[in-house]
Amino acid sequence: MDSASIVFCPIGVIRTQHREPDSTPIQPAFAEDCEGRVEVFPAFIEGLSDLDGFSHVMLIYYWHQAGAPQLKVKPYLQDIERGVFATRKPCRPNPIGLSIVELIGVDKGALSFRGADMLDETPLLDIKPYIARFDCVQSTRDGWQGEVDEQTAAQRGRRETNTRGHPS
Ligand SMILES: C[S@@+](CC[C@H](N)C(=O)[O-])C[C@H]1O[C@@H](n2cnc3c(N)ncnc32)[C@H](O)[C@@H]1O
Repeated sequence: MDSASIVFCPIGVIRTQHREPDSTPIQPAFAEDCEGRVEVFPAFIEGLSDLDGFSHVMLIYYWHQAGAPQLKVKPYLQDIERGVFATRKPCRPNPIGLSIVELIGVDKGALSFRGADMLDETPLLDIKPYIARFDCVQSTRDGWQGEVDEQTAAQRGRRETNTRGHPS
């Protein structure tokens, strides 16, 4: 296989209330009130069996409105340039997003979930169950994120505006 030309086909589409990148929460942790829906294409629906026993799933998707790739970016929570791979910015060489969301229900070919931090009509590449035994890391180092206080993270993460109407 030629590694320069990997091709993925979407397995479905993610429907959310979000139409504008700048007003979309930056992570599921800041999107507790935002429900979304995954519509899986008919050819892949059989693969959803047994998923309903999991409380959380990983949605892996293509950032279809990401801008041109950049290697240095200002992250959402700080105004200091960082290497793109030390951030979650969409404008990266392979614009692939990963959201761990709360599964509300599975109904035929559709999943409803809580924690939508992606735009409406985002193409879905894969779904995996979140498994605490594998995925929950007890002790971590958080790099530059440790410089961001909780209030700033919550304001910026939820896309709240300050009194002048500008993003905080
Ligand atoms: C910081 S990214 C993080 C998403 C994911 N949880 C992750 O860590 O990979 C979330 C932001 O990406 C942008 N975004 C969401 N869906 C997008 C899409 N389909 N195309 C381009 N940008 C998108 C929005 O601005 C949103 O606030």
